[in-house]
Amino acid sequence: MPDQYGVIGNPIAHSKSPEIHAHFAVQTGQDMVYQRVLAPLQEFPQSLAQFVAEGGKGMNVTVPFKLEAFALADVVTERARVAGAVNTLTFEDGHIFGDNTDGVGLVTDIVCNAKVSLTGKRVLLLGAGGAARGVILPLMQERPAEIVLANRTVEKAVELAQFFSQYGVIHASDFDALQGPFDVIINATAASLAAQMPPVAADLFHPQVSPVFVLDMMYGKQQSPFLQFAAQHGAVVRDGLGMLVEQAAEAFFIWRGVRPDTSAIYAQLHAQLHA
Ligand code: ATR
Repeated sequence: MPDQYGVIGNPIAHSKSPEIHAHFAVQTGQDMVYQRVLAPLQEFPQSLAQFVAEGGKGMNVTVPFKLEAFALADVVTERARVAGAVNTLTFEDGHIFGDNTDGVGLVTDIVCNAKVSLTGKRVLLLGAGGAARGVILPLMQERPAEIVLANRTVEKAVELAQFFSQYGVIHASDFDALQGPFDVIINATAASLAAQMPPVAADLFHPQVSPVFVLDMMYGKQQSPFLQFAAQHGAVVRDGLGMLVEQAAEAFFIWRGVRPDTSAIYAQLHAQLHA
């Protein structure tokens, strides 16, 4: 029987992870299957236990269970501990290992795919929820000159910045007080889900010596209002599809020890979305 993997969430029908992992498995010759698991909101532990009991080897975890997955894991990696959330579980010898590949997925997409170096750069990160927290350590590992964390509720940004100041240079700000220029701006707020945008002044997107690189962690058929606004004001923009594919590639590597090539599946998903 092929090794069993899956992605667990609620809702889960929209997840592209099965398509991505099926592609990686064929490409690298791995004997595995990967399915969607819809867990009732109150029954994440039971759904997980059932998957493990049926021989499951690993699971990706998505909204809204990443914090519960963190709490349930016996052992977590440093990057998952600092993120406070787990998106990749591995079941081995009766133990549950937790990792978080979101941040490394984002960084790989920016550095390797978009070919934008973060080293020495001023980075503006918008949002101070779970999505922002999950990517700060991997961003810092690229040694940016500074990360500025802006949030509507500034207290949350201050708290996160305080926590992460042990790892690198990070400052909190509210949206009104932001002082450019920034080289890279990343939207980790949930605003795009509601077709809204965080209140960022247009001049932050105006090209300085070179264009500002702007990434929204969301992706979809339509460009988010945030990316539209950024592009209109001169930024180079990118959505979260590449991050999605790269976080999956890192999970695949954790499970199978093989690093898949991501370019073909990215192109395929991009074409599907924009057909
Ligand atoms: P996630 O796990 O997606 O990060 P979350 O932890 O609920 O979800 O955090 C949502 C983030 O999006 C927060 O930073 C939130 O700002 P507040 O802390 O002020 O609530 C931000 N957010 C959501 N909608 C927003 C909007 N319309 N404009 C600006 N920020 C928004």
